[in-house]
Amino acid sequence: MGAPGTTWLYKKLLRPVLFEQNPEEIHERLIHTLGWVSRQELLCDAVHAFFGAPELPVDFLGLRFPNPVGLAAGMDKEAMAVPAWAALGFGFTELGATTWLAQPGNPKPRVFRAISAEGIVNRMGFNNDGAEAVARRCADWRAKGRWPRHPVGINLGKSKLTPLEQAAEDYQKSFRVLWPHLDFFVVNVSSPNTPNLRQLQDRTALTEILQALRECQRELLAKTPGPAKPILVKVAPDLTWDALDEILELARPGLADGLVATNTTISRPATTDPRVAKVYAETGGLSGKPVRVRSTEVIHHLYRQSKGRVPIMGVGGIFNAEDAWEKITAGAALVQIYTGMVYEGAGVVHEIVTGLRAKLAEAGLKDLSQAVGLAHR
Ligand SMILES: Cc1cc2nc3c(=O)[nH]c(=O)nc-3n(C[C@H](O)[C@H](O)[C@H](O)COP(=O)(O)O)c2cc1C
Repeated sequence: MGAPGTTWLYKKLLRPVLFEQNPEEIHERLIHTLGWVSRQELLCDAVHAFFGAPELPVDFLGLRFPNPVGLAAGMDKEAMAVPAWAALGFGFTELGATTWLAQPGNPKPRVFRAISAEGIVNRMGFNNDGAEAVARRCADWRAKGRWPRHPVGINLGKSKLTPLEQAAEDYQKSFRVLWPHLDFFVVNVSSPNTPNLRQLQDRTALTEILQALRECQRELLAKTPGPAKPILVKVAPDLTWDALDEILELARPGLADGLVATNTTISRPATTDPRVAKVYAETGGLSGKPVRVRSTEVIHHLYRQSKGRVPIMGVGGIFNAEDAWEKITAGAALVQIYTGMVYEGAGVVHEIVTGLRAKLAEAGLKDLSQAVGLAHR
């Protein structure tokens, strides 16, 4: 048996046991275990032999991705298990969010499962041990020869203690120390869990942050010549069309190279399940199935308004190949998953990539890039 059979087994056998336990404790144990696996080369190879996904290469922003399914930000905030994600079949990894200052995040409990809705509400609040510690860990994986061959990026957040007016400097400090280690950077101004962070999606504030990172990039490249690394902006699904259009104006080479759409939502759908209603009453961002449709709508809008010129990574409620295809045909060149892996297990990456290959063949297309934005043609 390979990865394909594991989703059913995971849902029938393992998930019911895991879901009896506290979500954050399970997450910590998972990261700890994958960190251990990551240090054993042979074990990683064995995991890859079992879970590794078939090839479905994508060229995006000057990088080559072995397949279009990536790990979304928030799962491996502190680069604890970098090699394991490639072993599990992901085509790329987005580490973080990391912030310049180490910080504990919000008080626990801060993660809640809305099981029948297949969603999660979280208000983690960028808990992480700071950009310098994360940079050291990345350097360490590289020094051990354990850095994956697929692209690895990082999600940058603002430190809670840093006032909004000093946000650009705060992002810049993280960017500078992480620069040598990562392939791409995502400016996170869309998490609902750091007070006022979303105000940084405003055009003036975001321009200031992006300019600060570009200036830093120019300085770094002057010292160590090489290719410029892509900088993307992650947007909230709760923005109005006008606010998204303003962000689109910043999405041009030399400022933001692309967009990640979307983060979690602060909105809540109607529900008749009292247990889900209780979870929805928690403060925080909602992910998983309940955000899928809105996130796809945002991708459609961004693609349409930019006439397909702005590179997009699509994320929000992807649980299977159908969901991934929906995001790609709406306009996303790559996709990411977080909550889908919690509900479907790690075999879902293999399933999605295999399903996408089948969909391409069905549509008579040779290359995934031909499917990007297909719904608009
Ligand atoms: C527990 C948890 C923590 C998250 N942490 C981050 C984060 O640090 N930075 C970020 O940009 N997104 C974070 N996200 C959002 C995800 O990266 C993703 O955008 C969102 O969950 C929608 O995708 P999904 O439905 O596949 O989970 C987090 C999500 C969850 C569930």
